Amino acid sequence: MIIPPGHTLPINGLRYLWFGIILTMTCFLSACRQAEDVRVLRLAHTLDTSHPVHAALEFMAQELNRRSSGKMQIKIYPGSQLGSERETIELMQLGAIDLVKTSTSPLEGFIPGMGVFGIPYVFRSSEHFWNVLEGEIGRELLELGKSQKLKGLCYYDAGSRSFYTRTGAVNAPQDLKGLKIRVQNSRTSIQMIDSMGGAATPIAFGELYSALDQGVVDGAENNPPSFLSSRHYEVCPYYSLDEHTMVPDVILIGTESWERLSDEQQQWLKESVDASVPFQRALWATKTKETMATLKDAGVEIIEPDKAPFQQAVAALHEGFKETEAGYWMQRVLQHP
Ligand code: GCU
Repeated sequence: MIIPPGHTLPINGLRYLWFGIILTMTCFLSACRQAEDVRVLRLAHTLDTSHPVHAALEFMAQELNRRSSGKMQIKIYPGSQLGSERETIELMQLGAIDLVKTSTSPLEGFIPGMGVFGIPYVFRSSEHFWNVLEGEIGRELLELGKSQKLKGLCYYDAGSRSFYTRTGAVNAPQDLKGLKIRVQNSRTSIQMIDSMGGAATPIAFGELYSALDQGVVDGAENNPPSFLSSRHYEVCPYYSLDEHTMVPDVILIGTESWERLSDEQQQWLKESVDASVPFQRALWATKTKETMATLKDAGVEIIEPDKAPFQQAVAALHEGFKETEAGYWMQRVLQHP
């Protein structure tokens, strides 16, 4: 309503104005209430959105939305947007983010037992690996982070890790001599590379493409989908499948975020996480096959070296670990069927 200059607001107009104000405020308050009713959990990870793990996280978010009838949502921050894995774990401890999908390797700094996954050639097969993760050992390890305000929710498949290099293939451990190999922020990974004869260089995943491109490091190691989706193959055309470690991914929630959820919300989240696990494992298997074909088509030389010399190179390392916490878990894993 436009009031010409010199005129006062007629009584009806005043009524409309009040009505308008009250309506606007009611809408605003109800929108706020609705926003309060929706619990949004923030989840960070380092991988690209084309990675199968990202697809599984999106599936988990959809499941949560569906199971909670829209009352719970997950906002995913991919591609190291919120920092490296170590940084996001710390943010989660502070309560600044709720969930993190991380490799177990940087978790070693918080939960030493997780170091077991960084010890090379501990698992005999993928069957052995999943027997361990789905059994007592896997469950106990997920619970170990409580004193660090970290609650493990599940494991995701991250296959096995192998070397890739810029110049020249790695056929045997001696080919690593003099090479700077990027490792995750993990003591066991550093020890592994050192015992194989390379020079271990920890670098955050998000900074690795340019480190490889500029020759800051000569190579790195990872599973096929991460090698492809990070585009590291563009600068490292040799992929040597020595499969030294099977390092799973885990989803963690900060214990403060977990405790802020009602029993019902915890249940929805747990069910959604659990539903995403078989989805991720199936997707991983198909994507890994496709990935190997894509890498070959892109001209990457795939080498299948004899694993025995790599295993021999780290045999003493196994001995050395025996007295450590990771070593305690290693012995349990080795004895596990
Ligand atoms: C894997 C893992 C990532 C991790 C990366 C790395 O791809 O899934 O979580 O960041 O390895 O090497 O840093």
